[in-house]
Amino acid sequence: MALFGRKKVTIGLDVGSGLVKVAVIDHGKGEPELVRVAISPLAADAIVEGEVMDPGIVAGAIRDALLAAGVKVKSVVTAVGGRDVIIKKIQIARAKEQDARDLIRWEAEQHVPFDMESVELDFQILDPEGDGQEMSVLLVAAKRDLIENKIRLLTDADVSPAAVDVDAFALHNAFEVNYPDAMHGVVCLVNIGHEVTNVNILEDGVPLLTRDIPVGTRRLREDLQRERGLTNEQADELLQGYDKSPHLDAVLATRGEEIAVGIERAAAFLATASRAQSLIKVVYICGGGARVPGLNEALATRLRLTVELANPLQRLRVRDGAFDALVIDEVAPLLMLPIGLALRQVA
Ligand SMILES: Nc1ncnc2c1ncn2[C@@H]1O[C@H](COP(=O)(O)OP(=O)(O)OP(=O)(O)O)[C@@H](O)[C@H]1O
Ligand SMILES: [Mg+2]
Repeated sequence: MALFGRKKVTIGLDVGSGLVKVAVIDHGKGEPELVRVAISPLAADAIVEGEVMDPGIVAGAIRDALLAAGVKVKSVVTAVGGRDVIIKKIQIARAKEQDARDLIRWEAEQHVPFDMESVELDFQILDPEGDGQEMSVLLVAAKRDLIENKIRLLTDADVSPAAVDVDAFALHNAFEVNYPDAMHGVVCLVNIGHEVTNVNILEDGVPLLTRDIPVGTRRLREDLQRERGLTNEQADELLQGYDKSPHLDAVLATRGEEIAVGIERAAAFLATASRAQSLIKVVYICGGGARVPGLNEALATRLRLTVELANPLQRLRVRDGAFDALVIDEVAPLLMLPIGLALRQVA
């Protein structure tokens, strides 16, 4: 435990393709407490397929969100994700943490389809207390470009990175705090965003596999416009509303199927790769898309599984006024990732 030098407050910054989200958590009082949340919209096409097309606009939205959160400290925890990040559970000869660090680079070459010169590696020993000849290690490899671009973006917005996390781990972090009971068996956490749906499969609390599906609220909105003749505003109103509608049901039939197939493929891959006996017990959904009326039911019917909305505030303490003018129920599902980032205590 560090008594000195540990920052009490962590600022989590999630730069999504639709919304920039900031969560501020105070770690000073034992139990973490969410003290501030801010959300700032991004202009259409500022980020496309994970790539920042207009750094000026994105940096502006980051500044707006931090300003709205009343943040003065300019050091934030952010994350990278997508296909240039690889997470893999591997078995290696049992070794001490420091020796494992030397081994891992060599091991990674066999598991990571990237040029080793251009990646950052990290790992976690999953069974440090075990005594077998081998140990389970969660290996993470991220292309260095991806991290450097993220840091450049922060610099443009006049902030510095306290840490660069991995999206899937941050999601998992917030999920674990709020749903400790979901840390047994195989569960699936699905983050449905503006452009992308991240499928994360956890086994006994370990994030084993993550896959991205190129479907989100943006596609749903385009479908509503093109196929159902709605305006942009009408589409958003339905997507962010509380009521089901025949328009939504029609577009969810197709897009829900795509998401369901993505979940099934991820689960099937995991079953062959790790010979996991157990099947997914429950699917939890979060992200802006999780609010779309009828999506939950569409997925549950199609997958024949229980689908639950995951709330990052389920067990987290929230300070009065943290949400300012935002409606808590309307934004909470969008905050799993930024809250996961802010849950990190950075030295
Ligand atoms: N209260 C809300 N305010 C704004 N948008 C909302 C709200 N509720 C739902 N949405 C929808 O959620 C979407 C954004 O969701 P989210 O923040 O999870 O995506 P993102 O992180 O920006 O995108 P991605 O992760 O795909 O890059 C918006 O595009 C909108 O359609
Ligand atoms: Mg997102």
